[in-house]
Amino acid sequence: MPFKPTSLLVTGGAGFIGSNFIHSFIAANPGCDVTNLDCLTYAGNLKNLTAVENNPRYRFIKGDICDASLVATILKERSADAVVHFAAESHVDRSITGPEIFVRTNVLGTQVLLEESRRHWQSGAVPDFRYLQISTDEVYGSLGETGYFTEQTPLAANSPYSASKAGADLLVRAYHETYGMPTLNTRCSNNYGPYHFPEKLIPLMIHNIITKKPLPVYGDGLNVRDWLHVRDHAAAVETVLKHAAPGSVYNIGGNNEWKNIDIVHLVCDLLDARLGRSAGENRSLIAFVKDRPGHDRRYAIDASRLKRDLGWGPAYTFERGIAETIDWYLANQEWVAEVTSGAYREYYTQQYGGKQ
Ligand code: NAD
Ligand code: TYD
Repeated sequence: MPFKPTSLLVTGGAGFIGSNFIHSFIAANPGCDVTNLDCLTYAGNLKNLTAVENNPRYRFIKGDICDASLVATILKERSADAVVHFAAESHVDRSITGPEIFVRTNVLGTQVLLEESRRHWQSGAVPDFRYLQISTDEVYGSLGETGYFTEQTPLAANSPYSASKAGADLLVRAYHETYGMPTLNTRCSNNYGPYHFPEKLIPLMIHNIITKKPLPVYGDGLNVRDWLHVRDHAAAVETVLKHAAPGSVYNIGGNNEWKNIDIVHLVCDLLDARLGRSAGENRSLIAFVKDRPGHDRRYAIDASRLKRDLGWGPAYTFERGIAETIDWYLANQEWVAEVTSGAYREYYTQQYGGKQ
């Protein structure tokens, strides 16, 4: 029997992946209310949710996941029978310059959510319950030229971001092992798609090409990432929430490895045509810059367990997904202007230098 949530608490639903998840989940689950708890950091934007904001089954609450009494009140008042935890500090470069907030949000915040979920679940307020932790392949560390991360790969995080996510994953495991709590844990590869904050590789390149700014490629540009469309990630999360056995861990990935420089070339070339520029014009903006400290060389996910157990596979081809993503950014320049204003400009100057 699949688990059928009736009242879902989503955290971080105003961010990139959380907002995409809410869009697809609300549409596909007419029997379920969705409460979105998000404190709206620089990465959270209510404009990502305009399509659902008037839906009677959707409610937004501005608040911090570290606020235990708020979390307890929401779980109780909404009779939540599922939590899907997206909220996080999510950018590796920011974790290198300021790791503290990563530990607070990603480790402490997860512990607060777990603890309040445990109390709520043990109170017997709801007949059945699931807690789903959204995590990343980065907890496994870095691969050489061959091989894949499986769910059995030992955690070996290398950045403050991935270390904080690994810490959170171990807490999730501990709550299952210690209290028998019905937890789930997914670990996904790099996402791309609409509403992606332009500090991350793909939207940053799209934005800089449109505005004719240098395209900063770290190191030799040969680091490899495995890219999955955000809506495929959202569908996988829904599948795991409804069908996975409590206590399980699932990798999510698209079998779609790209060297960074090849992705940058592809985005350049697709935008040459769309912006009416001559072939190769955008590539001339590429600027190799100092490498990221501790830069993981290669990520590649083996998601065969998810396919085998639960039948999930990606719906998007990369060709379609990247073209649609570029077109979304071209059509949503106002959104980009808004999220890149103010505090983001200061971050950008600090990260890439005043001249860029
Ligand atoms: P994001 O940075 O776009 O969004 C994070 C959201 O969390 C924002 O809306 C922010 O306001 C909210 N938030 C941050 N701190 C909070 C707090 N203390 N209380 C309440 N809300 C808070 O991140 P994303 O890219 O959408 O990632 C979502 C999740 O998926 C994260 O857990 C991330 O580790 C994981 N993940 C991301 C990727 C990726 O490629 N982006 C891949 C795998 C896993
Ligand atoms: P990013 O989007 O930050 O995701 P993650 O570090 O979580 O994988 O970066 C993806 C890859 O792109 C990573 O190898 C770092 C590289 N990168 C650049 O070369 N230049 C940039 O400006 C950024 C943001 C990333």
